Amino acid sequence: MKKLIIFNWKMNPGSYGGAEKIFKAALELSRKTKKAEIVICPPFVWLESFSKLLKIKNYKLKAKLGAQDVFWEESGAYTGEISPLMLEYVKVDDVIIGHSERRKYLKETDEMINKKVLTALKSGLKVILCVGENLKIRRSGKKIVMAFVKKQLEKDLAGTKNLKLKTKNLIVAYEPIWAIGTGKPCNPEDALEVIKFIKQTLKAKSSNLKAVKVLYGGSVNGKNIESFLKYKQIDGALVGGASLEPKQFNKII
Ligand code: PGA
Repeated sequence: MKKLIIFNWKMNPGSYGGAEKIFKAALELSRKTKKAEIVICPPFVWLESFSKLLKIKNYKLKAKLGAQDVFWEESGAYTGEISPLMLEYVKVDDVIIGHSERRKYLKETDEMINKKVLTALKSGLKVILCVGENLKIRRSGKKIVMAFVKKQLEKDLAGTKNLKLKTKNLIVAYEPIWAIGTGKPCNPEDALEVIKFIKQTLKAKSSNLKAVKVLYGGSVNGKNIESFLKYKQIDGALVGGASLEPKQFNKII
């Protein structure tokens, strides 16, 4: 099965020129690979132009566009927020929800994340849900890590049963917070263990979720990606920093 590679550019780069250059390089590569599906998540402001580029170049089926976040209402007095309808208008299919940087800097709670998940799913977007523990929890031992991740999944996906949530509407990314942007990735065997556990938890929640893809994220680069993706159960990677460097993402793809 093809591995899924999600590029999360975060709040980078600062200019449209720079963004277009990276985007086109990633599209070129995505056309050549048969081994990976690619979703590129740039900042909101570049989505519309990129969506037009995808159309013109007819790269459509090779790479897809994703957003880095979405709000939980479809419209209204919510200054600065972006709704699922707006994402659909610019032809975005996938959306990252619950990234640890939003949990940390914007104090997003599991309750807020759950509202976002429900609205995004109702609007037909595919949710890329990020979960993962901090260093303190990791140091407390595996059992505590698993219990923490399970709680996050329960809270973030509460109420999704009523929406008849299916495998194709959800992707989960296991992103231990201590591994994000630190250059210190999780040990692949430890990541595999948590990813297997996430899969079991989803399956136990609903038989509809037994084939949900679960990815690893946190300091993935061209050098270490193989050590994660060699495992059948790790369905792909969520890549931050390295997704902005053509040399790195060339190796990754
Ligand atoms: P990183 O980020 O690859 O720069 O560690 C991953 C992420 O935040 O999704």
